[in-house]
Amino acid sequence: MILIRYKRVTSTNDKARVLAEDGAREWTVVVSEVQTQGRGRSGKKWQSHKGGLWFSVILRPKISSGRVAVLQFFASNATRKAIMEETGLETETKWPNDVIFETRKIAGILVESKSQDNQLSFIIVGIGLNVNQSKSTLPVGATSIYATSREKHNVEQLMTRIVENMKSDYALLKTPNRILKNWWTDCIHRSKNVEIQTTNGIRNGISRGIEADGSLLIKQNGRTEHIMEGTLIVWKEQNPPQSNFRAKS
Ligand code: BTN
Repeated sequence: MILIRYKRVTSTNDKARVLAEDGAREWTVVVSEVQTQGRGRSGKKWQSHKGGLWFSVILRPKISSGRVAVLQFFASNATRKAIMEETGLETETKWPNDVIFETRKIAGILVESKSQDNQLSFIIVGIGLNVNQSKSTLPVGATSIYATSREKHNVEQLMTRIVENMKSDYALLKTPNRILKNWWTDCIHRSKNVEIQTTNGIRNGISRGIEADGSLLIKQNGRTEHIMEGTLIVWKEQNPPQSNFRAKS
């Protein structure tokens, strides 16, 4: 691992992208104490104060560009395992890119990539994990390791563990069934009634699985539908998981 540390950046994904364009090696990692323009899925802002773990990993796996979405499941698995190993906390996954503790979001993954002539040039795996922030500084619906356990943790040690776990699973990216299966086994909405807000309206059904293209399978009235994007709510849940998202300004 080649580690590049910053105190303050716009987004570690932006820094990693510039490095990747310049030919940076696989497993180059960019970490920053603060992000001024941290971002999440669908262009949302990701609140990134001091005390959290904000980092991005450059990867160049030999997979087809249609499989890039697997990286979000791969990174979620590595993050959850590291949280368990370092803190003993058991977390769950939520489609498409969330790590949840009880009903609150504790981590999120943002995968970005570049392809040229149908060939994948690089993938940036951006991971945000709420570590030492106190509850009062977290957005509604989010939690941190500290807010949950009252214990402070070394953010770099957590990061190293996550990267090590990614390295152990790296070979699985070629035939990702195990990655999908591990993700699904600890999914908060496995076989549950869900509602998904998509750009084409609301979909309801029982969530049945995920696929290597990143889609969620839901079943309703005997029909299976592949959902490619959206925000998922587990039905009848009192406090739907939210995140470090802030309304767009
Ligand atoms: C999400 O839940 O939608 C994804 C959040 C990803 C946040 C991380 S923090 C490090 C990296 N840099 C960013 O700007 N975003 C990701």
